Formats: sequence, C-alpha cells, structure tokens
Amino acid sequence: MNAILVASNRGPVSFILSEDGSLSMRRGGGGLVSGLSEVAKDLNVLWVCAALSDGDRGAVRLAPGGRLDQAGYETGALRMLDIPPATFHRAYNAVANSTLWFVHHLLYDTPNMPHFDARFRREWESYQAYNEAFAMALAEEASHGARVMVQDYHLSLVPAMLRGERPDLRVAHFSHTPWAPPEYFALLPDDVGTELLEGILGADHAGFLTARWAGAFMDCCEMVLGAQVDRRSRTVTHAGRTTRIGVHSLGVDGEALWTRASEPDVESHMAALRDQVGDRMLIVRIDRTELSKNIVRGLAAYREFLATHPEWHGRVVHLAFAYPSRHDLPEYREYTAAVQRSAKEIEDEYGTEDWDPLILNVNDDYPRSLAAYRLADVLLVNPIRDGMNLVAKEGPILSPRSALILSREAGAAAELGEHALTVNPYDVSATAAALREGLVMSEGERLRRGTLLAAAATALPPHLWFADQLAALK
Ligand code: F6P
Repeated sequence: MNAILVASNRGPVSFILSEDGSLSMRRGGGGLVSGLSEVAKDLNVLWVCAALSDGDRGAVRLAPGGRLDQAGYETGALRMLDIPPATFHRAYNAVANSTLWFVHHLLYDTPNMPHFDARFRREWESYQAYNEAFAMALAEEASHGARVMVQDYHLSLVPAMLRGERPDLRVAHFSHTPWAPPEYFALLPDDVGTELLEGILGADHAGFLTARWAGAFMDCCEMVLGAQVDRRSRTVTHAGRTTRIGVHSLGVDGEALWTRASEPDVESHMAALRDQVGDRMLIVRIDRTELSKNIVRGLAAYREFLATHPEWHGRVVHLAFAYPSRHDLPEYREYTAAVQRSAKEIEDEYGTEDWDPLILNVNDDYPRSLAAYRLADVLLVNPIRDGMNLVAKEGPILSPRSALILSREAGAAAELGEHALTVNPYDVSATAAALREGLVMSEGERLRRGTLLAAAATALPPHLWFADQLAALK
C-alpha cells in the first residue's frame, strides 16, 4: 500500500518490442513526464500509468500485477495498466487528444468544427472506462488517507470516481494544459461538459499552471454547473462539496539540465552544428510537431523576415526542431506535411550553394536539441496557446545570451513576458519584426534579459511544484 500516488496517461518509461521479441526500455517524453520523473523517485511515489504500445503491453504481461518495479525494471515504483487497445485508442486519441486537447487549445476552426454523433458516444464511453480503470487501480494501491495526484485532461473523471470508491483519500487533480473559456467549452455536449467539471471537482484540490487557466476553469464551473465560485479565496462549491483551486507554476531544475547538457554527446553535437553553420547567427525553435505550437506561422515569419531584410541573407540560420507527435491522428500527419512544405519553400527560395537558411530536424534527438539551445542567439517560442511551455524556460537557462521571442498566449508569458520579446502568435509580421529585433539586440542586453529569464525559469523547479501541491492536500 502506498501513501503518495501519481496517475498519468504517459508514464516515466516505455518499452520497445523488437522483431526477435525482446523488450528494451526508454525514458518517456514530454513536459509532464520530465517534470515528475525525478520527484517521483525521490519521494517513493507509486506512479500509475497506461500501457501505450505493444512493447508496454508485453512488459506488463511479464510483471506481477502490472508492477514493473517488481518485475526487475529500474523504474521507481510503477504500475502500468493494460487497458484493452481499442478502449485505449478511443479514450486517448479520439476523446483526450482530438476533442479535449482541441477544446482547451482553441484548435477547432470554422470548416472543422466538432461533430458529436453516435460514434463520439462510443468514444466517450471508452474514455469513461479508461478513467474507471485508473480509479480502480488507485483505489487498490492507496493506503488509508493516502494522497493521490491525478494528472491532466486524460484523467478528468478519476477524482470523482475515486472519491466514490475511497472517500478516505485526499485527491488532487492537475491540468498541464490551458483551460478553455466558457463560450468555447460550451462546444462540448452538455452532459460531457458537466461530467468533466464534476469529475475534477471530485478532487480536494484542482491545480492549474497559471491564474488565467484557473480563472477559466472557475468561469466554466459557474456557467455550466451553476457552482458557487469564490474567486478571492479560489474555491468552487458544488453539490455540497468545496474544491480548492490552486495556481502552481512549473519551472525547470536548472542544475540537472546543465548536467545533462554538458555531457560529451551534447558537446559533440555542438561542434558538428558549429561546423555546419559557421559563425552565422542562429534562430532556434524546439517543439513537438503539434498544431498548437504554431510552427507554420513561425516559418512564415522567418520567410517574411528574409524577404524584408535581404541584408541578413547568408548571415543567419534557422534551426527548427519539429519532433514527431501523435501520428495516429490525421490532423497531426497533415500538419507535419504542412511544416515540411513551408520549410522546403524557404529552402527553394533563399538557399544558395554556400548558405542553408533553414535546417529542419524532424527526428527526436534530445542531445542535438540541447546543443541547439546552447548555441542559440534567438529562441522562437510562438504557440497559439500553451499551458506553460518549458522550452521558453530551458532556453534561457542553457543560453542566457539568447533573446527569447515568446507568444503572449503561452502560460510562461505570465512569468517571463517582461524580459522576453512578446508577440501575438497570429501576427506573422510582428513575429518577423521580433526576429529582427532579437538578432540586432546587443549581446549585453540579451545577456541582461537572459539572466533574469533564467532566474525566473528556475524559481519553481518540479520538486517545489510537487511539494506545494502535496502541502495543499494536508
Ligand atoms: O499536458 C500536456 C502534455 O501532457 C505534456 O506533458 C506533454 O508535453 C504532451 O502533453 C505530450 O502529449 P502525449 O503524451 O500525447 O505525447
């Protein structure tokens, strides 16, 4: 039995099944996982996650009770749930990533508005079943009065389900995404919206990355549920229970990041990149190929900058990392193709025999991206909407002499906006102007701002972020 539990869709490790049937283990990716991995080990947390792939399912079948740590893997206490693949697919791809992610990031557009039909109803039932599987596993593993930290939009129903099973537990829910404003949240079918909000309100404490997302959640509770909201004390009272709403920004463990970024593989990538770009100035971006990251408009801004500032031809290179993500979804496959088309247009229009204006990296290469951070003169972070955005925080830590261009719609803008060049992410021309401003800014000014940015980025490392929420449950 465990006193502190974490639940999230993606876990700290994943497994790859090779053709000969052997399994190899890899560290899981993404902001949530990198934030929580070290903290979970240090505090002896039991982490409950879903099996995401055939490799994961293979590993779970060999593990007693799905407990990978007890099957001899060096994972920290970890239970992986083998949810039937069709149920998992509908819950994760259709509801969590194609519906809830779209709602919270305002990604629907007019020709592509949602269509909630009989098929969606089956998908929603799978989302309920998948949440139920987590709630049951947590109820089984938690000791009396344990604290359970449920993560993200995949698991919105878990707090209420868990409360039904185990009223003795103290439960927190944390949203790593933005939260939709009520008019946009109202796109969801009424019963679905109600169940999502009531699911989270099953927690004692509901956490958000910024005051803006917490405010939007409270607005939805008021408008959709008619709940009683006290914005000063940040509480929501509904159906006889009160849930505290918390704002917990998430920063970076600067020391751990520097340790990793100083390893020989990163140093040799730095040398190779330097060879490739010479002494030209470097504009860097590092993202998953994700619709909300706004990569296509970022490339359009670079193109407009090159068109309006020919004096920079041959003197600057844009290194754009766009890692593969969520390729099961057609929107993501199309977006990946759009990013590659935009990149090719820039290369065709401006590339010469001795100058590549753009280097696009489409493979997941963590050490190479750390090398890029360290070499950056300008870091471009222009999401149309983002819960926090840790790239905006990692960049200044690894290269305080780089200028940060930051979308005002990223959660990180609340803390970093003052020292960054903030942009409206839809305004391509303003982003192009900010690229130039970053490039011509004196090195002294970049360093002055970068030092302040790095201090803000390390103020709330993951262990403090987590400790703060644990304390809120006491
Ligand atoms: O809440 C956002 C998040 O869970 C991040 O932690 C992570 O960067 C991203 O979504 C990863 O998504 P997925 O697990 O679908 O790859």
